[in-house]
Amino acid sequence: MKLQTNSEQLPQDSGIQFNILEYPRHIVHEFELSDPEDSLTHFIKEQAFEFDRLLISKTYVAEIGRKVIGFISLTCTEIKFEDDVADDSGHPVNNFQSKPAVKITRLAVDQRYQRQGIGQILLAQSFSLVVDTIRETVGCRFLVLDARKDKIDWYQSFGFELVGTHENMMRECPIMFLDLRDLVER
Ligand SMILES: CC(C)(COP(=O)(O)OP(=O)(O)OC[C@H]1O[C@@H](n2cnc3c(N)ncnc32)[C@H](O)[C@@H]1OP(=O)(O)O)[C@@H](O)C(=O)NCCC(=O)NCCS
Repeated sequence: MKLQTNSEQLPQDSGIQFNILEYPRHIVHEFELSDPEDSLTHFIKEQAFEFDRLLISKTYVAEIGRKVIGFISLTCTEIKFEDDVADDSGHPVNNFQSKPAVKITRLAVDQRYQRQGIGQILLAQSFSLVVDTIRETVGCRFLVLDARKDKIDWYQSFGFELVGTHENMMRECPIMFLDLRDLVER
């Protein structure tokens, strides 16, 4: 995998730390994206703490002091297949037509801190969490997300693939996936 879990791109003295979102410790009201109406801004300001409290999603943040400058939210899901997943010799592994997955439901970096590698680190830390902790303790085959179209190339650069159906490509945010079996065996 190309993803690094270190923060080589970040300036040494950036003061940026990565933690689990905590109420009331974290300051979220200053978070900004170029579009003030972006639903991701609404999420971090109005919904993230509540979704955590209700066990709907867990949010991990990049912070400076207690100020949130980036975040990624994860939840459990499943993905359905028309055909079964095959093993290395092409034989179907089992008869399940849905497979367990972790979904990246939201990812954003404050516009003032973009293009410094923070998005990549949040993604890398989620990979580590899913591969080293979740997959080790609970069945979990895929990491999935709904990608904004202008971010598809970015996700592809980390190994995510598009679900290759016409229907998927017609979605406002096409579904992308990463097969953890490939990741673990690399
Ligand atoms: C997507 C997002 C989280 C990335 O965060 P980030 O911290 O800026 O990302 P990184 O710095 O780790 O990566 C940026 C690098 O990825 C590459 N990159 C950026 N956009 C890309 C794209 N569309 N395709 C391919 N590569 C891309 C560039 O090489 C860039 O590096 P550069 O500045 O040297 O050119 C951020 O742009 C963001 O919050 N956007 C608005 C909300 C959003 O679209 N969220 C995703 C919803 S699916």
